Amino acid sequence: MNSLPIGIFDSGVGGLTVMRELRRLLPAEHLVYLGDTARVPYGNKSHATVERYAREDVEFLLGQKVKMIVIACNTASAIAAPDLRARFPQIPILGMIGPGSRAAMAATRNGRIGVIATAATIGSRAYETRILETFAMAGRPAPEILAQACPLFVPLVEEGETDSEITRLTARKYLTKLRDAGIDSLVLGCTHYPLLKSVIAETMGPGVTLVDSAEAAAAETATLLAKRGMLRDPAAADPARESFHVTDAAARFHGIAESFLGHRVDHLALAELGTAS
Ligand code: DGL
Repeated sequence: MNSLPIGIFDSGVGGLTVMRELRRLLPAEHLVYLGDTARVPYGNKSHATVERYAREDVEFLLGQKVKMIVIACNTASAIAAPDLRARFPQIPILGMIGPGSRAAMAATRNGRIGVIATAATIGSRAYETRILETFAMAGRPAPEILAQACPLFVPLVEEGETDSEITRLTARKYLTKLRDAGIDSLVLGCTHYPLLKSVIAETMGPGVTLVDSAEAAAAETATLLAKRGMLRDPAAADPARESFHVTDAAARFHGIAESFLGHRVDHLALAELGTAS
C-alpha cells in the first residue's frame, strides 16, 4: 500500500505547481498526474459541470491504483471536494482550500486577508467559509476577508505572459482595491497564480505576504501521509516514478511540464475520462 503512487489532478497544466512542491518535499514518492487539458478551464464552468469533471478525474486516478488523491485545482477543490469525499470514502482526498486557509491564518497579523481565485472559486465562497471556520476553531477573532475573482490571470499565464506590461496592468485592475483596503496577506487561490508571484508582489507592495496554496497543500500532503503511516520507504531500492496523463494536446503539455518541473517527462499518455461506470 505505502509504495502506491499519490494521484494528483488539475484541469490542465496549473497543478504542476503542486506537483513540483510534492516532488520537493517527498522525493521518494511515486506520483501520477492527470491534467484535463481537453476541458480546461474549470474556473468559468457551472458547479454541476465541475463536479462531474472532478468525479471523472478521481475515477481515472483510482484506476491507476493510487493511495491518496490531491485535488491540485482550487476550482475543483472549492466546488467538488465534499461530493468527492462522500463518493470515494475509501481514499484520502486533500483539496487546496483547507491548507490555503490554514496558511492564511498563520500569515496574517492584522486579520485582514485577501483571496484571489477564479470566478467559480470566488463564487463558491469556499475560501471565505473555510478561513472563518479555521479562525473560529483556533479561538481567534473573525478576520476581514476581501475576495476578488481574477479571470484574466489564467489565460495570461497560459500564454506565457508572466512578467509583462499587460499582466502588470491586469494586476493593478484586480488588486488595487485589496491593497488599498490594507490586507496584510493574500491567498493565491488558483494553481496558476504562483507563477505571477513577482508581478503580484510588486503590485501589492511590501508588507503583504503572498500565501501560496500549492506549497501549503504539498506540506499537508506530507503531514497526512506521515501521520497515517502511508509514506513510501525512502530506502526502497527502485527510484521514485512519475507518470503524466492528459486528455488532449499532449505535445504542448510535454514542453510546459519539462520546462516547469526542470526534468525529463518520459511517461506521458492520453487519458480517456468518463468511461468508468
Ligand atoms: N486549476 C484552476 C484553479 O486552480 C485554474 C484553471 C482553470 O480555471 O481550470 O482554480
